[in-house]
Amino acid sequence: MLKTAAALLSLAFVLAAPPAMAQDAKRLEHMVKQDCGSCHGLTMKGGLGLPLTPEALEGKPAEVLAEIILDGVPGTAMPRWRPLLTEDEALWMANYLKRGMTK
Ligand code: HEC
Repeated sequence: MLKTAAALLSLAFVLAAPPAMAQDAKRLEHMVKQDCGSCHGLTMKGGLGLPLTPEALEGKPAEVLAEIILDGVPGTAMPRWRPLLTEDEALWMANYLKRGMTK
């Protein structure tokens, strides 16, 4: 348990490498669960939106996913998040999802 927490913490620091701070990581994690989870499922296994599990995202570069997060997918329910996220934050989120948010 403690080990997992420590691992998560260090992971958060690696992923949150500047300019995103640990505090931002918390906010972004919360956003993934609350906002993205409403379509992609609380555990990102999919729902209205596609699954965003590490398996589903394998082979899709974080940069590409960050672009999708920022600009959405026109013609689908996937909204653009640019008004709410910076490019660094979107990239952080993409990496977070690729690593597996539930781990
Ligand atoms: C209103 C519903 C909705 C919300 C909220 C939403 N998405 Fe999506 N998302 C979708 C849909 C639908 C698709 C599939 C679009 C398509 O058909 O290509 C998608 C696709 C994606 C993809 C591309 C997946 C792939 O394999 O190509 C990513 C990444 C993604 N969403 C991330 C997010 C993130 C991160 C959030 C929260 C900040 C979020 N989404 C919030 C509906 C949503």
